[in-house]
Amino acid sequence: MIGFVGIGFGGFRLGRGSRGGVCVSASAGDGVTVVVGATGRTGKLVVKKLLSDGRSGKVRALVRDEAKARELLGTNERLEVSVVDVKEKDERLEKSLADAETLISCLGSTAIPSKDWEGGKNSPIRAVGLGMGNIIESLTPEKIRKVVVLSSVATRNRSFIFKLVDLIGGAWTAMEMAEDAVIAGAAEKGYEYVVVHAPVLKDEGPPVQGVGIKLGDVGKSIGPLRRENAANVCVECALRDLGDVVDISPYGVADETTEDWDVLFEELTECPVVLKLEFSSLNKEKFQNWLLDWASALPTNSALFPPLPVPFRVDPTDEGARLAFIRVTVDGGVLELGALNIALEESALVVRREPATREFALPGERDILRLLVESLDRVVN
Ligand SMILES: NC(=O)c1ccc[n+]([C@@H]2O[C@H](COP(=O)([O-])OP(=O)(O)OC[C@H]3O[C@@H](n4cnc5c(N)ncnc54)[C@H](OP(=O)(O)O)[C@@H]3O)[C@@H](O)[C@H]2O)c1
Repeated sequence: MIGFVGIGFGGFRLGRGSRGGVCVSASAGDGVTVVVGATGRTGKLVVKKLLSDGRSGKVRALVRDEAKARELLGTNERLEVSVVDVKEKDERLEKSLADAETLISCLGSTAIPSKDWEGGKNSPIRAVGLGMGNIIESLTPEKIRKVVVLSSVATRNRSFIFKLVDLIGGAWTAMEMAEDAVIAGAAEKGYEYVVVHAPVLKDEGPPVQGVGIKLGDVGKSIGPLRRENAANVCVECALRDLGDVVDISPYGVADETTEDWDVLFEELTECPVVLKLEFSSLNKEKFQNWLLDWASALPTNSALFPPLPVPFRVDPTDEGARLAFIRVTVDGGVLELGALNIALEESALVVRREPATREFALPGERDILRLLVESLDRVVN
């Protein structure tokens, strides 16, 4: 039986798993942040936010029309304007991206024919799909650190109507090509990336709107987002260390403001707590030794039947132990599927599932947690 007891390691009680808050670092450095689509309705707000924010260095706006850029973006000693058409994979494009450390793309086109298509010369497939391929190819692996691309919740989850509209000019196919180019580039050039799956963007409506963020690509519109909030989300994604987070779905929250971006992103990147045992008293050192012995003996523990479906590795940590679930690949490599991080906190043992993006239980996770609770119950009673 599990309950409060005051002997041995100290009594414990079960707590509910939750997402808490762990600080994420904000780090852009002094390098160049390039904004593509910088004279667009969202892109111009990204540039403004970067310039008013002290965390980034030089900002380079990639635009097609210099006069439009000067009118919309003004002048600033940290702002550079570079005139390029991303359809042209030429020296100008390469030069404007060669020293980029961070790239934010708000490149876009309309879903149905408009003057933006320039009679087909600048169709979504050409401007956004192939254009993003050209951009990614021009990035320098040694320089580029982070790529943030503003995409849509519908890119990979098209309703019937969207599928029909896509047949006209491939607006969503183009965004899928752009996302794919960013993902493939990350594997090749080693940068981090975040795909922002935005819902419908709007400029009108009540001036006050907060932002909510869901992890992953939720694939459906939760609440329309003001462009200034979409821009803020892109900039925050570029400036923060989001670790394993590569897909987010922001949405608008009516009648609220987003005052604390730290809290919003902390909640997003916090690994979910899958077990919490609170103690009335705790001998940490004694507990940690016991934990390591217990974890190391897990593979041969007869109480685990059937045995765990995948092998795992136990590593001691400063706070407890980390159980990494692994898969050995055909070429002998070791792939980490995820991990359970068991930490001894102030007066609790807390188990978090890593990475933060892993929503579902690891193979054998429930058996391990059950055994942990049973073993502790035996030890403390
Ligand atoms: N609109 C929505 O409701 C919605 C919803 C979800 C997601 N999104 C995503 O958000 C992105 C931005 O949306 P938005 O409404 O801000 O778009 P926007 O106002 O149409 O801006 C698009 C930008 O792309 C630039 N561009 C187009 N072709 C180019 C080319 N060949 N070379 C260089 N630049 C080029 C445009 O340049 P110019 O200024 O010279 O025209 C413009 O700055 C969209 O692409 C989409 O991925 C939009």
